[in-house]
Formats: sequence, C-alpha cells, structure tokens
Amino acid sequence: MNLGLGTAALGRPQYINIRQNDVDNSDLEQFRKESFQVLEDAYNAGIRYFDTAPGYGLAEELVYDWLKTKDDNSIEIGTKWGYTYTANFDANATVHEVKEHSLAKLNEQWNFSKQLLPYLKVYQIHSATLETGVLENQEVLNQLAFLKKEYNLQIGVTTTGTNQVEVIKKALNIKVDNNQLFDIFQVTYNFLEQSLIEIVDELQQQNKRIIIKEALANGRVFSNKNYVHYQEMYRSLENLSKKYNVGIDAIALKFCEQTIPKSTILSGASNTKQLKENLKLNDFKLSNNDINLLTSFKTDAEHYWSERKNLAWN
Ligand SMILES: NC(=O)c1ccc[n+]([C@@H]2O[C@H](COP(=O)([O-])OP(=O)(O)OC[C@H]3O[C@@H](n4cnc5c(N)ncnc54)[C@H](OP(=O)(O)O)[C@@H]3O)[C@@H](O)[C@H]2O)c1
Repeated sequence: MNLGLGTAALGRPQYINIRQNDVDNSDLEQFRKESFQVLEDAYNAGIRYFDTAPGYGLAEELVYDWLKTKDDNSIEIGTKWGYTYTANFDANATVHEVKEHSLAKLNEQWNFSKQLLPYLKVYQIHSATLETGVLENQEVLNQLAFLKKEYNLQIGVTTTGTNQVEVIKKALNIKVDNNQLFDIFQVTYNFLEQSLIEIVDELQQQNKRIIIKEALANGRVFSNKNYVHYQEMYRSLENLSKKYNVGIDAIALKFCEQTIPKSTILSGASNTKQLKENLKLNDFKLSNNDINLLTSFKTDAEHYWSERKNLAWN
C-alpha cells in the first residue's frame, strides 16, 4: 500500500484548500469523533503510514488517542515540528498557524510528540526554508541527530514553495558527525507541480524515502469554473475518470504513484467517503499515453505557488 493518510484536514476544522461543499465543523466533539473514525477506516483499509504535526490543531492528540487502541508494529507515524496552531478552532481566526524554527520550539514540540513513540518513526522539520535558516542552525541539527540516534528515527524535511529542489539539495548535504542527517523528504508533487522530477533520481540513488503531499493540488485538480486556464485540463480529467471508472482524485494520486515509484502518497481526505474514493488508486493502472497526457499539465512553479498562496482557509 503506497497510500498514507495525512491528518491536516482531520485536526483542523478549517483548512487551506478549495472546498467543494460548505462544511460545518462548529461542533468540535463531533468533528473529533468523525476524524477518529477516518483514522480507523484508513487502518482497516490497510493504510499504515500516518502523517501529522503539532500545527494541525488536534491532530497529534487524536493520533495519540487512536494509537492507544492499537497494538501493531507495522503502524508508522510521521510528525513534524516548527508550526504552532493558533486558530483555536475559530473559523474567523486571522492567524491560523505560526512558524518558528528555533531549538526552543523543537524541544517544546518534541516533548509532546515523543508520546507517539514507539509508533513514531519519522520526525521532520515542518516546511524547511532557506529564510528561517533552520538548515544552518547547528544546535537544531545536532539535536535532530541526537533524537535520530536515541530513538532510531528517520529524520526529514518537508518542503513547500518554488525552491523545493534547492532546499532538498541543501538538506542532502547536511552531515552531523560525518553522517548524513536527512533520510526522508516530504514534498509537494502533482501533475501541476512537477519540480521534484529534477531531483528524484538523486534521492532514489541515495536511498532516500519520498513522501508526497498535496497530490490533489489542494483541490485544484477538481473541475472549477474559477480557473479558466484549466478548463481543457478538466475536460481531459473527466475523460480519464470515465475511462478508468474512478474519481479525479484517484487519477491524480495514481499519477504520483506511477511517476515516483516507491514513494508514499498522502491522502488528505477530510472524511471516509473521500478516503474510499482515494483508495481506488489501488484498482487500476494508467497507460503510458495517459501518464504523458497528465505530465503535459505541468505548470510553471511560480504560477503554481502564487495560485496556492491565494487559497483561503475555509
Ligand atoms: N509538510 C507540509 O508543509 C504539509 C503541507 C500540506 C499538507 N501536508 C500533509 O499532506 C497531506 C495531504 O495534503 P493536503 O491535504 O494539504 O492536500 P491535497 O491532498 O492536495 O488536498 C486535500 C483536499 O482534497 C479534497 N479531497 C480529497 N479527496 C477528495 C475526493 N475524493 N473528492 C473531493 N475532494 C477531495 C479535500 O477537501 P475538502 O476537505 O474541502 O473536502 C481535502 O482536504 C495533509 O493531510 C498533511 O498531512 C503537509
């Protein structure tokens, strides 16, 4: 199973994407219950990799509570540090999250996340950028190297934005005590944003693990009349969806799976219905011609990320 489950939409009632339907997540207890059920349904469907973060509202706590009901060492949890959730489940919050890549933040968030051990296998810098200087912060790098050794973790970075490849290259070169620090790279990749291709061979040659996020381009893969420039693409996607008898989500996920072999692709499903649709990627294979067609939808990274910036929390 190459599909993992991301918990961003399960921990925060409001999320950055294009929502197809208005959601009423005002009853937090109900929201939490439903999110718990999505974890359980994913597990029952064979998913074993779960991605979370302290920045995802109640997600880490939810995963922690859910793990208490499990006794299965094939479960792998990946979490991150660096973002603090600040919206307090208020749909009208002006600031939803705050980024801080300091040693103090790492220590504070590790203090909670370590409770996810022994299921916790992957620990990542959440959205490593050149601007925060985190990849040059020796005390942070030393602490990550310490955690890696002490708890047998895979250490990773997650990347976002136009210079993902540059950040990955920089991270690949980081050594602590002569050992490469980073084993795992969580990257945005989908048929609209294909920058990863430039570095994928290098990552695979170095035996690095690739986790793909935002495979549905935050909902931009779904037909939407506001994106005039994607109308032709939407028509082609409809045709593929009919041809393979699956939703556009499964087409988009399958594209990632077939073009980045051996990667883990995160489902960002916010409910079980979406999860089940996402899981249909296991039922078919795209032809080479169809892969080529999807590859041709690639956009310029600047354009992709400026469009991403304009998405609202909703
Ligand atoms: N490290 C980072 O910086 C970072 C950043 C982003 C994400 N992530 C991780 O990656 C995971 C996946 O990314 P993502 O959720 O941001 O992006 P995504 O997978 O591109 O988009 C997810 C959204 O697509 C919609 N969706 C999913 N399946 C659908 C279906 N069958 N039909 C219609 N809509 C469907 C849902 O929107 P609605 O909820 O509106 O229905 C869902 O919230 C996250 O959960 C998180 O764990 C990490």
